[in-house]
Amino acid sequence: MEVVRFGIIGCGLMGREFASAAARWLHLVDIDVRPEIVAVCDTDSAALDWFREHVPTVKLCTLDYKELLAQESVDAVYCAVPHNVHQQIYVDTINAGKHLMGEKPFGIDKAANDAIMEAICANPGVFVRCSSEFPFVPAMQRLCDMIERHEFGDIIAVNTGFLHSSDLDPDKPINWKRMSAYNGEYGVMGDLGMHACHVPFRAGWTPVNVRAVLSNLVPTRPDKQGNLVPCDTWDNATLLCEAVDSESGRTFPWTVRLFRIAPGEKDTWYCEVYGMRKSARYSSKNTNLIEILDYSKGGEQAWQHIDMGHETAFKTITGSIFEFGFSDAVLQMWAAFLYELVHGKPLKKFAGCVTPEETALSHRLFTAALQSHREGKTVAIDL
Ligand SMILES: NC(=O)c1ccc[n+]([C@@H]2O[C@H](COP(=O)([O-])OP(=O)(O)OC[C@H]3O[C@@H](n4cnc5c(N)ncnc54)[C@H](O)[C@@H]3O)[C@@H](O)[C@H]2O)c1
Repeated sequence: MEVVRFGIIGCGLMGREFASAAARWLHLVDIDVRPEIVAVCDTDSAALDWFREHVPTVKLCTLDYKELLAQESVDAVYCAVPHNVHQQIYVDTINAGKHLMGEKPFGIDKAANDAIMEAICANPGVFVRCSSEFPFVPAMQRLCDMIERHEFGDIIAVNTGFLHSSDLDPDKPINWKRMSAYNGEYGVMGDLGMHACHVPFRAGWTPVNVRAVLSNLVPTRPDKQGNLVPCDTWDNATLLCEAVDSESGRTFPWTVRLFRIAPGEKDTWYCEVYGMRKSARYSSKNTNLIEILDYSKGGEQAWQHIDMGHETAFKTITGSIFEFGFSDAVLQMWAAFLYELVHGKPLKKFAGCVTPEETALSHRLFTAALQSHREGKTVAIDL
């Protein structure tokens, strides 16, 4: 079993999710590589305490990420920090020769993403990917297999999106994700957009233009002391893209809805693909379910409702009928990162993490979306 020694920069919500995935690596079978977390960094020492208590392999806890990057014993780094520091920390990590799993949006804006892409080009020996876990849900893997086998025929339409609702409460205290200085001008697109783009981009469905409508529904929120402060990020984004299928050259409409204020939706990630031969739909609201309509032989247009179990890309010890959850998807994503790092290619097309090129395309899309909303018109995407 090969061991890849990790440093984590950013020990908040997502940093801890990785530690949990690494701690239950024995859940995976037939994988020939595993992570070991040896160093952690956070500017908030309280965030390091959790790692001191729970992760015995950690040898270094530091407030300074440059100290972590200077460690010979660190082979790879997971950066899960606010968007305003992505550029600096990702570029320094890559230039230090450490493999990188970065978090989305992979740079606070397009200029930051360009700088990260430059560092990647200058360090071809460094393996870099961006996190996105939802495609690893078994029902989505099934839908992705259908894409890979060209089962849909000509694409009629694609809808993807991510819907939250907790921000419907105007009294919810503000955090960095609702402040453009930390989260970026993209607002909700920077937070949730990559999740809606990963599968379409990997499928070779490229947006050529976009008409976006962005909403800032709650312009102020209380801070921790209860004082009202500006909440200056876009809460909701609705994008209508004309997408081109790189295989057939045909175009089709692709809608992307990214909502922090979608009443009744707690954490709904969905993907719908409608084709001339087959159609399929998945929503995390009913995570076991994949709906498939097979019209390849004509006849009745009937949706089949199929319950998925634990049919994962990377095999696990869990019985195949048992249901799958968020932390299982995170474990699968980390297996995909390590598998591709060691084997040089993903296990299969849709069992790979987001590539740097895919992040660059997302930045071109979100930058065009900002312009579209500002000018009230459809904007061509700079391909
Ligand atoms: N893949 C997903 O499903 C998912 C979910 C949530 C967040 N994210 C992404 O993960 C990243 C982090 O989000 P989070 O929810 O974990 O945030 P968080 O606020 O819970 O954690 C971020 C941590 O980074 C630390 N930090 C800030 N500046 C730092 C610096 N210069 N050096 C070291 N540490 C620093 C903070 O103290 C904090 O502990 C963001 O890019 C976010 O978009 C991804």
